Amino acid sequence: MRLAPQPSAQPLRLLVLLLLATAVPSSPVISTGCPDRCVCDDQLVVQCAGQHLTTFPVNLPLATRQLIISNNRIAELPPLALNYLSDLVYLDCSNNSLTEISESTFGNLRKLAYLDLSFNTLTRIEDRTFGPLASLVMLRMTDNPGLSEIHPDAFGENAALQVLDVSRNNLTVFNITSLIALPAVRSVGLSGNPWSCECDNEDLSLWVHLEDEGQTVCGSPADTQGRRLGEVGIQLRTLCHQTLGSWDYLFFVVIGFVIFAAGTVSAWVMGVIMVLYERYIKKKDEQLEMDDEEESIETGRAASTRSGHDNGNLKTSHTV
Ligand SMILES: *[C@@H]1O[C@H](CO)[C@@H](O)[C@H](O)[C@H]1NC(C)=O
Ligand SMILES: *[C@@H]1O[C@H](CO)[C@@H](O)[C@H](O)[C@H]1NC(C)=O
Ligand SMILES: *[C@@H]1O[C@H](CO)[C@@H](O)[C@H](O)[C@H]1NC(C)=O
Repeated sequence: MRLAPQPSAQPLRLLVLLLLATAVPSSPVISTGCPDRCVCDDQLVVQCAGQHLTTFPVNLPLATRQLIISNNRIAELPPLALNYLSDLVYLDCSNNSLTEISESTFGNLRKLAYLDLSFNTLTRIEDRTFGPLASLVMLRMTDNPGLSEIHPDAFGENAALQVLDVSRNNLTVFNITSLIALPAVRSVGLSGNPWSCECDNEDLSLWVHLEDEGQTVCGSPADTQGRRLGEVGIQLRTLCHQTLGSWDYLFFVVIGFVIFAAGTVSAWVMGVIMVLYERYIKKKDEQLEMDDEEESIETGRAASTRSGHDNGNLKTSHTV
């Protein structure tokens, strides 16, 4: 169905046309009309929702403040066309086929306060993507089933950000250090992601504990699946900061056993040596005793022969 522009937008568009004709050289991306299949009103709202669009609408009024292109199949936000809309405050791109947002996509949208990128096919968010959006208050980026990576500094410069929703994506970790340092942040939707409940996600789990909303649960490792991220956070804090890990404990158990075994074996060896030594000593003593006995027998004989001699001497002395 083709929607006709509302008649009330007519005088404004004529004015813009006049201004453009005199001041701005012609450009392929700006126009004074209303894009095909869109409705433009005098409140500078351009409504193009659910029009089976596959490309970003052309001929957008330069002064557009609200642009709604949701429920289409738009695959790309062209930076050039988008950045002419420097007065844009509200941009709803939900339910399209966006796979990528480049660093320059939002380069000139300094007044943008509301951005909806939900229900797309984004896979990752880079460092500088939202950097220029100095007035951004609310960012909805839910239901991108392949979105698994958000750069730690992706929101670092969005000083006005109050509400961020990244629910129902494919996120496992999310470094929130720079996000929670923002002065205005008051709500972050995290539910429905397969969060990692390991040390790499400790900061998030501890922070979630304060704001838990129920559906923010662990996706891995297997033994924590389905448990609330905030609940696991307390355990992670002790687990991740232990100076002794489980390997250290295993090491001590093994070392303890080795020392015990070595002690037992050495005691046994010592015992054997002592017994053998004792036996040897005993044997030697016996031998000595036997030698002594033999010796004493011999000395006995010697003594008797000597006495015989003495007798002889006596006899001789007698005879002398
Ligand atoms: C997305 O848009 C299509 C039409 O393009 C519509 O049928 C569908 O219900 C929309 N989905 C959501 C979640 O809004
Ligand atoms: C989600 O991420 C995991 C890896 O972390 C990947 O294996 C899976 O295919 C992703 N799911 C989707 C729908 O892209
Ligand atoms: C999180 O990101 C900040 C920079 O924004 C970095 O300094 C910090 O080391 C990161 N934390 C983790 C756990 O990776």
